[in-house]
Parts: sequence; structure tokens; C-alpha cells
Amino acid sequence: MKAENILIIEDEALQRETLAEALRGECSQVRTAATAEDGLAHVAGERVDVVITDFKLPDHDGLHVLQEVKRINPEIAVIVITAYGSIDRAVSVMKAGAFDYLTKPVNIEELVMVLERACAHQALVSENARLRRDLGEKFSMDGVIARSRSMEEALNLAGRVAPSDASVLLQGESGTGKEVLARVVHAASRRKDGPFVAFNAAALPPTLVESELFGHEKGAFTGADYRKEGKFELAHKGTLLLDEVTEMSLPLQAKLLRVLQEHEIDKVGGRESIPVDVRVIATSNRDIKKRIRENLFREDLYYRLNVIPLKISPLRERKEDIPLLAEHFLQKHRRENNKPVMSIDESTVSLLKKYNWPGNIRELANIMERAAILCTEDTLLPAHLFFEDDAEMDGDGSSKPLSNFRGTIHQMEKELILQTLEEQNGNKTRAAESLGISIRTLRNKLTEYQSSG
Ligand SMILES: Nc1ncnc2c1ncn2[C@@H]1O[C@H](COP(=O)(O)OP(=O)(O)OP(=O)(O)O)[C@@H](O)[C@H]1O
Ligand SMILES: [Mg+2]
Repeated sequence: MKAENILIIEDEALQRETLAEALRGECSQVRTAATAEDGLAHVAGERVDVVITDFKLPDHDGLHVLQEVKRINPEIAVIVITAYGSIDRAVSVMKAGAFDYLTKPVNIEELVMVLERACAHQALVSENARLRRDLGEKFSMDGVIARSRSMEEALNLAGRVAPSDASVLLQGESGTGKEVLARVVHAASRRKDGPFVAFNAAALPPTLVESELFGHEKGAFTGADYRKEGKFELAHKGTLLLDEVTEMSLPLQAKLLRVLQEHEIDKVGGRESIPVDVRVIATSNRDIKKRIRENLFREDLYYRLNVIPLKISPLRERKEDIPLLAEHFLQKHRRENNKPVMSIDESTVSLLKKYNWPGNIRELANIMERAAILCTEDTLLPAHLFFEDDAEMDGDGSSKPLSNFRGTIHQMEKELILQTLEEQNGNKTRAAESLGISIRTLRNKLTEYQSSG
């Protein structure tokens, strides 16, 4: 990727010109400044994508430059050059949000590599920012990633239903981001300063669910030695997320229906109803219609809850979201562990896209976290990925490649070689091994394919 608009802040003229000269071929535009003030004036007044700044400047230090740049535009990547051996400084600028640091004397090749990563990362960041702007500043979108059309639509709908108090039924497989979307609705509603309370009915036995949801009076049953506030009371003036609502028992469903209709609760062992002002968002990862047919879920409750239906597609149906999500989880982990940003190799991204993600985004988050721990280089490779269920990998069957193939032997051979290469993520040695040919033969074949187009 060609770097865009670069600004170099460096007071030593020779060093400044050497860097600028080296980068002119790599970047669309290279500007220079000799002082922090001069550099910041450029940042404030012109389009700058990446700032490369020396730490020691006549008027301010690199930390100040970094903080000011981030204040002017947090999307700009800042690379700080520190003196050799000043680890403390390097750590302090990384903590303050520098993209990376380099030590003197600057190795130009290294600088170009860091710059490439910065630009790739920056493209992602501005893509996300664009998305946020498009969706409006109406609601907090921090950390919610949506590139696919279906997620964008779901977010849009969430934003539109948020202002009303209507119940929402959120349907989606496990790990698709139902809670994330519920929080978006809450954050965009007039209840945003009130509590957001989440409760999972499936995890507890029915009697406990009742007292957890509605609370109980002191002495209501053996062991009730204090008055307990239920989730509905805790969520007063806020939002209550009822996870896996289909798992509630029928008597509890009746009780829930009453709360939704009357806006008041009856505590276990209580004499009077207590009014509550709560918006309910219910979720389900099951086929609710089927539960209704089996008489396991009340149809009237379904209609009460389903005033506004929101659906989140499984990740395998919106694979466009995978690169951004993977990047998001990787960098989140790096940030939390104070490590520099890391890039994801193209081959890693294509492998991630081949997987069917039965555990959806949660599974992706886990795999990226594990990969971030395992990877000690600065690029994440397919070797760092460990999938939970290899059977969910597309194109993994060795019989698959040519079973439907019609054509000449030559075409077939070409197809097989290219597919194997792809399966081995471009690793020629492994591809040759798996094809039972020498690496030289493989190279020759590839050159032949290249020249024949
Ligand atoms: N669009 C997204 N952007 C960023 N992170 C996401 C997104 N969607 C989900 N996640 C992350 O994926 C994980 C699972 O999401 P969440 O808990 O909302 O799923 P869920 O549908 O409620 O799952 P379950 O059915 O198991 O309760 C969380 O760590 C969440 O932060
Ligand atoms: Mg959940």
C-alpha cells in the first residue's frame, strides 16, 4: 500500500532531509517541520495521515507532539524516534498511543515497514470512523464493528427503535453480538443514564429465576432472611436484558407478561404490586415459533416481546465483517497488554474467511486472543490460528478439489497445483510436499502458468 500524507518533525536538518528523501518514493506527499509548533501547525491545517517525530525537539518533546496530534485528530498514526537505549521513553510514548517507535540511528528499511503497517492500520481506523459517522453520532458505537450490509442494517434499526420504550426481541445464534446490540439500543435511548441490567434465565432453576427477577420479601420462604431487590427493580428507569427468554418456565412467562402489560411487579411473598419503569429487551437463539407450536412458549408473550424484531445474522453469512473484527480483537489484546500494533497477513485473513464460525464472534475473539499470545513476530500468520472444529473449514476436504472437474489433464494439473498452493497459504515447500513433486518442478510450473496467463 502506498503511504499517503506524511509529516516528518525533526530539528536536525541533515537527518530531516535524509528521512524525507528516503520516503519521497514511498509516499504521496512528504512534509517536513523543524519544531513541534511548526509540525502541529501542519497537522491542524492540512491533511496528514502519519506523523514521524523525533523525541527531542527544541521547543517540546515527542510526548507532547503525540498528545497534541491525537487531540487534533485521533486517527493520525504517530511514530516516535527515540535515542538508542531510552526504553522508558519508548514505553511512555507507546502508552500514550504512539503507533510505534524507532531508535536512532533510524534504519530506513525498518521505517518503511512500520510506515506500511501504519498506513494499513490507518485505513482500517478511518473505515471504522466513516462507518460511525455514517450511522450518525446518535448512539455510542465504541467497539461495535459492522461492515456487512446486514450488520449495518441491524445497527441502523437498533438506532431507530431505541427512542421508543417498546420491547425488543433480539434473535441470533450464540455469540453473534446480541448483548452488544442490546447495549447499543440502551445507549441510544432516553434511558442511557439509567441502569443496564442483564439476566440469563437459562442458567438457573425456575424458583430462583422468580426471586432473581422479581425479588422477594424477607421471610417469603425458608432462607429468605433479607428483602431482596429483583432485576426489574434494579433496572428501574433503565433497560433489562432478558437472555434466552424461551427457557423461562410457563408460570414465569405468565408473570413476565403481566409486568409488560401492567408495568408493575409482584415480589415473592409481597402483598402489594410495585410499579417499575423498565424497557425489556429479550433474546433468543432458538426457533421461537417452534417453541410456540410445542406449547413451550406463550404466544401472547411472544407478540408482547416481539413489538420490534431485530435479527443478527451468523458470522458465516457476513464474512465481510471478519477482517475488521479480527483486526479489532487483535489490536484490543495488544493494547491491553501494552504491545505495539501487529499486522495480519493476507493469508491469515483468507483462512479466517474460510472457516464457518459455529461459535460466531465470540469464537473469533477467542481465536484472535490466542493467536496474539502465540505470535512473537510482528505479523500474524495462519500458523498462529487454532480452530476449534476443523470440520467447519471450507475447502479442507482433500477429495474436494477436482471431483467436479471437466477439462484437459493440463488444466486439471494447473487447477490442482493452484488449489494446493492456496490451501497451504502460498507456502511452496509445503505445497510441493503435499503434491509429491520437487519444489523446482513446482516453481517451473508456476512460471509457465504466469507466462501463459
Ligand atoms: N459487532 C461487534 N463488534 C465488536 N465486537 C463484537 C461485535 N459483536 C459481538 N462482539 C463481541 O463478541 C462477543 C460475543 O458477543 P455477545 O456477548 O454480545 O453475543 P451474544 O449473542 O449475546 O451471545 P450469547 O448468545 O452466547 O449470549 C463479545 O465479546 C462481544 O464484545
Ligand atoms: Mg448474550
